[in-house]
Amino acid sequence: MTPNDDGRNPSGGVPDKPEATTHAWPDLGQHDEAARAAVAGIAALLGRPIPEKKAEPHTASEWLARTWEVNESALETVSRPVSPVLHLLYGFVLGRWIAEHAGDVVQRGPDRRAPQMSRLDLGSGTAVTVPTAATVLFPAGTRDEDPVAIETGYQFGDPYLTAHALPGRREVAERALDALSADLAADHPYRGRTLQASAPGRLTVKPVTPTPQERTDLVLPQSVWHETDLFCAGVTTRRDTLRALGHSTSRGLLLAGPPGVGKTKLARVLATELAGPLTVVLVTADVLRTWMTELYEEVRTLGPCLVVLEEIDSVGGKDSRGTTSFGEFLDALDGARTTDDVLTVATTNDPAALDPAVKRPGRFDTILEVPPPDAAGREAILRLYLPPDAGVDAGLVASFLDGATGADLREVARRSLLEHGADGLTTDRVLDIATSGRWKPAPVAGNYL
Ligand SMILES: Nc1ncnc2c1ncn2[C@@H]1O[C@H](COP(=O)(O)OP(=O)(O)OP(=O)(O)O)[C@@H](O)[C@H]1O
Ligand SMILES: [Mg+2]
Repeated sequence: MTPNDDGRNPSGGVPDKPEATTHAWPDLGQHDEAARAAVAGIAALLGRPIPEKKAEPHTASEWLARTWEVNESALETVSRPVSPVLHLLYGFVLGRWIAEHAGDVVQRGPDRRAPQMSRLDLGSGTAVTVPTAATVLFPAGTRDEDPVAIETGYQFGDPYLTAHALPGRREVAERALDALSADLAADHPYRGRTLQASAPGRLTVKPVTPTPQERTDLVLPQSVWHETDLFCAGVTTRRDTLRALGHSTSRGLLLAGPPGVGKTKLARVLATELAGPLTVVLVTADVLRTWMTELYEEVRTLGPCLVVLEEIDSVGGKDSRGTTSFGEFLDALDGARTTDDVLTVATTNDPAALDPAVKRPGRFDTILEVPPPDAAGREAILRLYLPPDAGVDAGLVASFLDGATGADLREVARRSLLEHGADGLTTDRVLDIATSGRWKPAPVAGNYL
């Protein structure tokens, strides 16, 4: 006897064995699986086996295989390694995709939990939350003609990004990841901002709000400004000309000079001028030593940018040859040249001590000496740091300070203001401070111990 379609026995009698029906199981909380197993065991003993209800899938691929009704091992899965920063940034794009297809997407967190979100700082006091541990399923006809799922998460603490597609449709997964990268490149949330790259354990890139630095705050010979302008022209006024002729628009500028002549300040002036059209990345020494390759990988996604490497002596010196980080540093500089529109400006105290390999053409196009100021320069710098109406003969004071750097002159002005206040300044008093050397940060003898 077989029941007909509506489940009744054709003869109209009661079937001698009821067909197994799927029961809606109550949710038994944390004992769910154990309770089910026990009930199923009792039912089997009674000769009335009940259909097994599959446990909730744990992993993204179990879930997708179940949803798409395919064999889990046949799923097409494409993974890309991502840095912690890129992980958040891809999360940013994924968040936008989710919003675009809000009515259609299905999301799931890791291990049956809810999707997990993290905060992406965008600088200037703004932040967004983005998915960082989730599987997001875009049904057929949303991102692609085929269904595709993006999985983002952490494995053993390392972030990853994976796309899943139907068996035999690997290109759909590849396409989804390419589209994610393309969308990030097209509208990068960090584009045009000033970022600080540091390495508290691992590479971190964060938007910062630097104090703007103007050219008028810095007294340098005209030749230095001229070279600085040429350096920028590769990505500004001369960009199209260079590109049309197949030249790289990336350039490297090495600022060399003794401490306190304004190298850092010059780099900051460039950062102020170029932020906006370019993304600016300020790099600390700990990044230089260990994370250069990763850094330039990040930089590639940022579009035209200015990378400021401070004090490369710590990694680029002759002593460091043979160490892995020195090789990595050089490789990263070379790598920067293969990407267009990357300006790198680095500072060093002693270019002679730098390994010749650092100075090879192609790594830095220009080594620009930033000299201590001449007499006219010293006078201009003193004027900059003394009150404009102080009535001090800056030219006379400057003539006694041969060899002083901009930082020294700023100290002379500061010490004068501390001792005499803005109203008490005279040429004699400033001259006395300048010639006595009291402005130098030497320990004052006899005051302690
Ligand atoms: N040419 C200059 N014109 C005006 N101010 C200057 C000049 N040079 C130095 N200064 C003043 O001195 C400060 C320190 O200079 P800066 O940090 O740029 O020197 P640096 O060349 O980078 O030195 P270091 O090699 O020690 O890093 C500047 O912030 C600025 O206030
Ligand atoms: Mg400096």
